[in-house]
Amino acid sequence: MKSFVALSIILLATSGSSLNTIPLTKLQGNGVYLKGSPDAGRARAASLKRRADYGPTTFPATNVQYEIYTTKVGIGNPPTYYDLFVDTGSANTFCGAGKLYVRTNTSIPTDDTVNVTYGSGNFTGNEYLDQVTLAPNLVIVNQSIGDALSSAGFNFTDGILGLGPPDLTLGTLSPDNVTIPTVMNNLVSQGLVENQVLGIYFAPPKNNNDTNGALTYGGTDSSLYEGNLTWVPVTKTYPASYFWGVNVTLCTYGNHTVIPTSTAGIVDSGTTLVLFADDFFSVYMKAIPGANIDSNTGLLDIPPSSISRMQPLNFTLADRLFPADQNTALGGDPGKRYGTVGSFGNNSRSGEGLDFLLGLKFLERYYSAFDADGNRVGFAQTNHTFSTYEG
Ligand SMILES: *[C@@H]1O[C@H](CO)[C@@H](O)[C@H](O)[C@H]1NC(C)=O
Ligand SMILES: *[C@@H]1O[C@H](CO)[C@@H](O)[C@H](O)[C@H]1NC(C)=O
Ligand SMILES: *[C@@H]1O[C@H](CO)[C@@H](O)[C@H](O)[C@H]1NC(C)=O
Ligand SMILES: *[C@@H]1O[C@H](CO)[C@@H](O)[C@H](O)[C@H]1NC(C)=O
Ligand SMILES: *[C@@H]1O[C@H](CO)[C@@H](O)[C@H](O)[C@H]1NC(C)=O
Ligand SMILES: *[C@@H]1O[C@H](CO)[C@@H](O)[C@H](O)[C@H]1NC(C)=O
Ligand SMILES: *[C@@H]1O[C@H](CO)[C@@H](O)[C@H](O)[C@H]1NC(C)=O
Ligand SMILES: *[C@@H]1O[C@H](CO)[C@@H](O)[C@H](O)[C@H]1NC(C)=O
Ligand SMILES: *[C@@H]1O[C@H](CO)[C@@H](O)[C@H](O)[C@H]1NC(C)=O
Ligand SMILES: *[C@@H]1O[C@H](CO)[C@@H](O)[C@H](O)[C@H]1NC(C)=O
Ligand SMILES: *[C@@H]1O[C@H](CO)[C@@H](O)[C@H](O)[C@H]1NC(C)=O
Ligand SMILES: *[C@@H]1O[C@H](CO)[C@@H](O)[C@H](O)[C@H]1NC(C)=O
Repeated sequence: MKSFVALSIILLATSGSSLNTIPLTKLQGNGVYLKGSPDAGRARAASLKRRADYGPTTFPATNVQYEIYTTKVGIGNPPTYYDLFVDTGSANTFCGAGKLYVRTNTSIPTDDTVNVTYGSGNFTGNEYLDQVTLAPNLVIVNQSIGDALSSAGFNFTDGILGLGPPDLTLGTLSPDNVTIPTVMNNLVSQGLVENQVLGIYFAPPKNNNDTNGALTYGGTDSSLYEGNLTWVPVTKTYPASYFWGVNVTLCTYGNHTVIPTSTAGIVDSGTTLVLFADDFFSVYMKAIPGANIDSNTGLLDIPPSSISRMQPLNFTLADRLFPADQNTALGGDPGKRYGTVGSFGNNSRSGEGLDFLLGLKFLERYYSAFDADGNRVGFAQTNHTFSTYEG
């Protein structure tokens, strides 16, 4: 279970189905995907001449081990491609945790070190400025990259693509103590996209290496969701306000109220489950007869007698109801059914300014959009058929 924000985590579930990649051909639908191949100089020149000439660009993301999404990012010239973890809950971008950083003539050391501690891992290394290729027509120059010389917690990825707000990078550089421009910041400042908007499409994975997701830089891809996005302002409540944080005004499970009043939490692609502060979680767990925490996996173990009686877990965001997924299995004992809702642990209490996390299991149901220009997060029903009780 991944939790790359600085919060507690639940233990791991492992799983072992066959490896099988199913690319989503519909990702290429908007006509700008993987078109052209300007090098850094051309990208720079183009940006100076005609800013934001390109529309939003969509490219694939892969669900790995049912827990995280990765995407291929090229670093250097010629680019070496790394599978980077897609994380809206942190903002540093780095590689070298798996595949080692390959320096080229575009790699410029800054003489700063960079250290980041996550909810379930950390890295320490040197900062470089380098060319970053997201797609052949999206080549960023002078992007800060961490070269991880030592790291923990990154088994299935080479590093992180940090898509959270840039303030999250403060304190990670040394001796310089400055905010690091993120990939999204540089896409806009270098004229590669017009709007500082990221669209994320995830779908429930069918195997443990499923290329079933899509990231859109510079806007949203309306072919991947139904209707209009519902926009929710980024919360003013600290510390959720440092992230892609939102207020939920009510959360219910059946006729039980899990969150009774306006409460702040965050939307985080770096967390697998939907997580609550312990007191909220306790209301939820008690509402499911016979449910208990499985000691092997840390997941909520739901007895067969309760499976068919599972109710939607409903979040109200900006006056709209967003029912969350209930019961996608995450591995572990094949005879058991695990819930997709967990707790922060550590005797956490609500009222601390960050009382829930909407992770992948929520994002697999709702297309999400992260709008740094408008300081808001958008949600819409994803364009895939969804069975509530799958797994
Ligand atoms: C850097 O390397 C690339 C690829 O080998 C080459 O095309 C480019 O000319 C080199 N640039 C410089 C300034 O040496
Ligand atoms: C990184 O995580 C590993 C494993 O949990 C731990 O042993 C190490 O001390 C951590 N390093 C830092 C700098 O926090
Ligand atoms: C490159 O980016 C760094 C911050 O990451 C910034 O300090 C520097 O001014 C930039 N250089 C150029 C030439 O844009
Ligand atoms: C990650 O790798 C470490 C060391 O190889 C191992 O102990 C740990 O169980 C692995 N974690 C997962 C989720 O596979
Ligand atoms: C990162 O860690 C290294 C070694 O552990 C240390 O020398 C450096 O000062 C640290 N940098 C920051 C920003 O904490
Ligand atoms: C870095 O800067 C921030 C804000 O500018 C400050 O709060 C923090 O104490 C500084 N950290 C160090 C190690 O100087
Ligand atoms: C996922 O599948 C791709 C394509 O077959 C392969 O290159 C990659 O190594 C696989 N990743 C993992 C984590 O197994
Ligand atoms: C998904 O999008 C495609 C192309 O935009 C559209 O043809 C299709 O009807 C949509 N599927 C659903 C389930 O809405
Ligand atoms: C989406 O918004 C547009 C413009 O506000 C409106 O005309 C349209 O009816 C909305 N569509 C849906 C499905 O709500
Ligand atoms: C969010 O809720 C808090 C109280 O929990 C309130 O102060 C704030 O105005 C609400 N809205 C935003 C956008 O933060
Ligand atoms: C809540 O719903 C359950 C069944 O779903 C029912 O047994 C119970 O009486 C209800 N409680 C209230 C207070 O309505
Ligand atoms: C929760 O959402 C479902 C699906 O939209 C709806 O049928 C149900 O009435 C909602 N429950 C509550 C308590 O709002």
